[in-house]
Amino acid sequence: MKIGILSSGGDCPGINATIRGVGKTAMVAHNMQVLGFHKGFSGILAGNYEVLDMDKLSGILHLGGTILGTSREGTVGKTLLQDEAFADEFRAAYHRLGLDAIVAIGGNGTMKTAKVVSGLGLNVVAIPKTIDNDVWGTDVTFGFDTAVSIATEAIDRLHSTAASHNRVMVVEVMGHHAGWIALHAGMAGAADVILLPELGFDIDVVKQDILERARAGKKHSIIVVAEGIEINGKKRPGHRLSKILSQETSLECRETVLGYVQRGGAPSATDRNLGTRMGGYAAQLIANGTFGVMVRMHAGAMGHIPLSEVAGRLKLVEPDNELIIQGRRLGISFGLPRD
Ligand code: F6P
Repeated sequence: MKIGILSSGGDCPGINATIRGVGKTAMVAHNMQVLGFHKGFSGILAGNYEVLDMDKLSGILHLGGTILGTSREGTVGKTLLQDEAFADEFRAAYHRLGLDAIVAIGGNGTMKTAKVVSGLGLNVVAIPKTIDNDVWGTDVTFGFDTAVSIATEAIDRLHSTAASHNRVMVVEVMGHHAGWIALHAGMAGAADVILLPELGFDIDVVKQDILERARAGKKHSIIVVAEGIEINGKKRPGHRLSKILSQETSLECRETVLGYVQRGGAPSATDRNLGTRMGGYAAQLIANGTFGVMVRMHAGAMGHIPLSEVAGRLKLVEPDNELIIQGRRLGISFGLPRD
C-alpha cells in the first residue's frame, strides 16, 4: 500500500512524533510506502510531497512544529463541497499519486475537511491534534499536555514577580473557544481567579474577589483568562480585564499574553507517547481497511470514531468538570457568585 501523511491547521508539539509513529509503523509492521505531503491537503492537489523513509523519520520525535509544514485551509474543505470540478481535481490527484489512503493530522477544521474528502470516496484516517484539547470524540489531544506545562511554568514565574510588586497579574492563555488550557494551567499554577469561555463570568464578582483577597492581607493575585472570553463583546480579554481592574480598583494590574509560546518547542514525554500511539494506531487502521474515522484516546485506550460524528462539533469544558468543582471547594474564583 502507498499512504500519504499530512498535517493541517495550527501546529502543536507532538506532530512530528505522530508522523514518525504513522510512518515507521506503516513501513516496519506493514511494508507500506509512505509519502509526506507539504502544507496540508493542498500538498496533495499540488503534488507537493517527499518520500518518507526511515532516515527522514529518524531524529524527529522530540522536535516541535511539523517537518511537513502546515496551513490554515478551511476553504479547501468548503470548495471541495461546493465545486464539483475542484473535487474531481482532488480525486484525480489522489489517484494519480497512487495513494491508497491519507492520514490527516489536524484539529477541528481538519476533521471537517477530512470528512469531506472521505465523502469523495477516498480513504482517510484522521488524527486529532491541538493544544486547545477541544476536538470532539477524544478524551485528549496531543499538544495539550505540553501547552499546559508551558503555561503553568509561566504562571509560576508570574507569582514571584506579582508577590514582589504586590500586583494583580492577568495571564491570557490560548484556547480559542475552549477553556481547557486555562482550567488545567490555572489549577496547576495556583491561580486565584480562572475565567473560562464556557462558564461566562461577572466582572463585579472578579473585582470583589480580588479586593477581598487584598483585604484579607493577600498582597498579590493571579488571574488566568482564556483567550476565547469576550469582554463587552471584544476580544483580547487579558488586556481589557487588566485595564478595567486597574481603573475600578485601587490595585495595580498587569497583563501577560502567553500566545504562540504555548504552541512551540519540544513536546512533553506524554505528548510524544500519545502521538506515537495515535500514529501507530492509524497505520493499523489502514492495514485493516478501516477508513472515514478519527483515531481517539478513550478511557485510557486507543480507539476510533467515525468522522461524521466528530466534524463540526467542539469538546468544551462542562460546568460540572471535576477540576472546576474541586477548584471551587478550594476557594478559587471562577468569576461567578458563590453557591
Ligand atoms: O492551535 C489552536 C490555537 O492556538 C488557538 O488557541 C488560537 O486561537 C489559534 O490557534 C491561533 O492560531 P493561528 O494564528 O495560527 O490561526
